[in-house]
Amino acid sequence: MINVGIAGIGFMGMTHYNAYQKVRGVRVCAFCEQDKKRLAGDWRSIKGNFGPQGTMMDLSGMDCYTELDEMIANDKLDVIDVCLPPSLHAKVAVAALKAGKHVFCEKPISLVAADAKRMVAAADRAGKQLMIGRVLPFLPEYDFAYKAIDSGKYGRLLGGHFKRIISDPLWLPDFYNPEKVGGPMLDLHVHDAHFIRLVCGMPAAVQTVGRMRGEVAELFTTQFLFGDSDLAVTAASGVINQQGRGFTHAYEIYLEKATLLFDAAGIGKDWVVGYPLTVLTDKGRVVRPKLGSGDMCDAFVAELKEVVRAISTGTPSPLLAGQLASDALLLCQKQTQSLARGRAVKV
Ligand SMILES: NC(=O)c1ccc[n+]([C@@H]2O[C@H](COP(=O)([O-])OP(=O)(O)OC[C@H]3O[C@@H](n4cnc5c(N)ncnc54)[C@H](O)[C@@H]3O)[C@@H](O)[C@H]2O)c1
Repeated sequence: MINVGIAGIGFMGMTHYNAYQKVRGVRVCAFCEQDKKRLAGDWRSIKGNFGPQGTMMDLSGMDCYTELDEMIANDKLDVIDVCLPPSLHAKVAVAALKAGKHVFCEKPISLVAADAKRMVAAADRAGKQLMIGRVLPFLPEYDFAYKAIDSGKYGRLLGGHFKRIISDPLWLPDFYNPEKVGGPMLDLHVHDAHFIRLVCGMPAAVQTVGRMRGEVAELFTTQFLFGDSDLAVTAASGVINQQGRGFTHAYEIYLEKATLLFDAAGIGKDWVVGYPLTVLTDKGRVVRPKLGSGDMCDAFVAELKEVVRAISTGTPSPLLAGQLASDALLLCQKQTQSLARGRAVKV
């Protein structure tokens, strides 16, 4: 049995806790949270944009801490699951790795590239796994796309376009703070940056155009420039000031023998799938593959199963690797630089 301590009982701490209940071979046995009400089991104040509302929880039998170092020192724990604001990720992850724990940490790996490097190096030195939460490849549409590209089933990847737009997350006061959350680039687009890095490799340069809000990128489109100039990849992301469409994500992926289409959004209170995953083949066929549940909470269950698989087999996850997340952070930073400077930037 793998024993986990969750650092931070907020939206993600609660989402992970609920998901762990559906994963075999693992149990949550500790929490660290500075909000004493949440630590006592009152999760009603937790806010997020999907999944169930927080309720009253019975945390008796759990080891509960207000100090992160004290939870990290708990000998019983094998894994520290970091669900804290991004500015705390590096400090906690490095301390946990040094203490001989595996770390599963929510995205983004960090807000600072040097800290991300430190985290990856700390894992190497400790001989422990550092995994960074990346739920996108565990959603059925992105899982399908990843496997279609990775297997070569439809030939070579020729390019694609990725979209991820939200309305202002009014419940996150620090959202545009570059030192605390990092704005839409690091909170939102980082999901697509990671996916692009995963399936295309590292681009040689990026060219981003759009709008800044203070020091962070607000609404932007990026052309990823690869050594292989046949690979044409773009992404659009950011925040627009309307609450009618809280969230939308979509892609078009071009392969030699097929195009993959997908587009879905939260419109008002409804989840509207504009294009369910559709495969247009080079033979003119239109195929709608049957997929698993598109429920975000199920994707977290799948992600945690991968964490448990990686730890119990000792075989690191290709999807959750710390180095990939570090590369995704670097990409996002280069995109912001490109937008601010008004020119392409080498990666
Ligand atoms: N994968 C996804 O889809 C997804 C979605 C939302 C958030 N996230 C990521 O998850 C992480 C957490 O985000 P969230 O939305 O859960 O935030 P949140 O604000 O809801 O929760 C953070 C919790 O950490 C606690 N905390 C802060 N400092 C602490 C400290 N020093 N010691 C103990 N507790 C402390 C806060 O009191 C709060 O309860 C972020 O990195 C965010 O980017 C990922």
